Amino acid sequence: MVTKTARKKASKLYTGSAYYPEQWPEERWKKDIRLMSEAGFNVARLGEFAWSALEPSAGRFNFGWLERAIAQLTKAGIETVLSTPTAAPPAWLVEQYPDILALDENGRRVQFGNRCHYCVNSPEFHEATRRLVKKIAETFGTNPHVIGWQIDNEYNRYCYCPHCQQLFHEYLAQRYGTLDELNRRWTTAYWSQTYDAWEQIPMPIGPHNPGLMLEFKHFMTLSYRRFQRLQIDELRPHLKKNVWITHNFMYWHDGYDHYEMSEDLDMASWDWYVGMGHLDYQTDGAAHDLVRGYKRKNFWLMETQPGNVNWKPVNNMLNKGEARTMAWHALGHGADAVLYWQWRSPLNGQEQYHGTLLDTAGQPRLFYAEAQQVARDFSAVSSLIAGSTIKAETAILNDYDSRWSIRWQAHHKDFDYVEHLRHYYRPLAVQNIPVDIISADAALKGYKLVIAPALLILNDKRVANLKAFVRNGGHLVLTIRSGMKDEYNALLPMRQPGELTKLAGVEVEEYYALNEPVPVFGPDWNGNSYFWAERLKLLDEAGTQILARYGTSNGWLDDQAAITQHPYGKGTVTFVGAYLDDASQKLLLQQITGQAGVEPLLKTKVGVEACRRVGADHREIFILINHTRTEQTTQLPWHAAHEHLQGVEIGNTLTLAPYGIAVLTPSTISK
Ligand code: GLA
Repeated sequence: MVTKTARKKASKLYTGSAYYPEQWPEERWKKDIRLMSEAGFNVARLGEFAWSALEPSAGRFNFGWLERAIAQLTKAGIETVLSTPTAAPPAWLVEQYPDILALDENGRRVQFGNRCHYCVNSPEFHEATRRLVKKIAETFGTNPHVIGWQIDNEYNRYCYCPHCQQLFHEYLAQRYGTLDELNRRWTTAYWSQTYDAWEQIPMPIGPHNPGLMLEFKHFMTLSYRRFQRLQIDELRPHLKKNVWITHNFMYWHDGYDHYEMSEDLDMASWDWYVGMGHLDYQTDGAAHDLVRGYKRKNFWLMETQPGNVNWKPVNNMLNKGEARTMAWHALGHGADAVLYWQWRSPLNGQEQYHGTLLDTAGQPRLFYAEAQQVARDFSAVSSLIAGSTIKAETAILNDYDSRWSIRWQAHHKDFDYVEHLRHYYRPLAVQNIPVDIISADAALKGYKLVIAPALLILNDKRVANLKAFVRNGGHLVLTIRSGMKDEYNALLPMRQPGELTKLAGVEVEEYYALNEPVPVFGPDWNGNSYFWAERLKLLDEAGTQILARYGTSNGWLDDQAAITQHPYGKGTVTFVGAYLDDASQKLLLQQITGQAGVEPLLKTKVGVEACRRVGADHREIFILINHTRTEQTTQLPWHAAHEHLQGVEIGNTLTLAPYGIAVLTPSTISK
């Protein structure tokens, strides 16, 4: 496996930008690079969509310009991340092999001229990719100024061509062995779907058999993983040990399983755009924690918005100072680099109005000064922070299979898997409790609290993991829509939460999609359940505590158990059968974190976020971010601390200006 080779802890923090020198006359580069240098940037990402500039016709390579651009950047002290340009297969290639263009689900060819227009399984596309990436790797792989590689850009398209279909059949044959097994697992007797030849199986378009739909997602993950892998295999032999390979993933995109895609990468990275509106740290932090969870280590923010985007209904500018809080928020959640997209406004092309650092005249825009500030900040604390990581005692489990399955049969239009997950995240974020968002199949050792929101799909490994976690003293939170299906997306022949019933001490007698809120009463609160309610039946009457009951509603739920707690081994399982209102959810999570012994990093007012990075020497570095537009004062639990951005000693009171940042190491701890 390639992932064993390139692993070195970050030795510095990076700031920079995506740069497309091929779009500008070479005489201009000098000025661009001088301005990057004056911005304080130490990295640029190049090459991403440059296929036609690198290979103007089949097998005729033109790398000189890229070599010269990297050399000029190097001279200015700016390192390079190179991308493979495969997201933009050029016109000559598409002309030569029209089948490279993906076929959409209506059987129409995707038109040339945008990006990611390829069929991810096309043999001609693979061949052209190999030829180009091999050559790029041979030319730039050993360049000491290329510190990392990005494969392609934001994989996203599905293809429905006959070749993909044939590969899908091969995948199914390998997974199921026999059609009898497939027919059984998918219950194809339903609606006469029984297959007696692999070729009869369609690629699902719209709602279809749930088993088929889930396998198509697995197949698309495999297709992208193979495509990514073939590029890694060309690159890796040419790279030095500490040179990493990544892909820039997209937010909560669910086109494939990101855990599987990340397995072959050295590092995860992602592209964060607030888009319309403003940063909401209690929600957006979850996306950083998600990406950190792909490989359970730090990541790069490969793209972020220099002020505004161009693809939302309203492309508002971030407030002055807000981008600085975004950069620090990313760092506080495990980013080691922040790169803006992009350097200069292109004169033409599809993204003319996107935010940039330079305007069309090649002059710094107003935003440039803010990026400069971020670069100054990062450089001031680089030696302190680089190499440090995030340590959390709480994990939230995330599962693409469960998410897909619920999306296809939501049963309630407002039930959204990610939103439900964030409903558990936000009360932790507001308390400054660090969270790892990790795969439902990940090892759970070291956590005190594990929350498994809507873990619909169970497999043997998950059940064993969760049992061991609780048996050894962990606190597990199971929620609505838990333990209902198997890995073939078939309903389990038992009540929820399936094999976890004994752990939970309860089973779900019935579930209800709600068209109106249902009252839920706990000893300390009086709230409601929205969208969903599960009626819990106690199996271990003596051992199970009822934390909340439903009030009078549809008759079925009246006075029934809504939230329970049950001991198992040395640990505890809380089963949350309700989708609580925000205030009740906050109280519930305060109670649960208290029981689990999970403590906030620091107590701050809402709007002030505290993050913590821990150095290899166990030194704690606290990052405090004022996300509000007013001054905020925080009482610190220490007698004194060093603030590293200003380089000053402070007492136990910290005052942050609007959108202000502080990086603190406590002198003495007296919590
Ligand atoms: C994505 C892409 C970039 C650019 C930005 C614009 O993240 O990777 O190439 O199109 O969006 O917001």
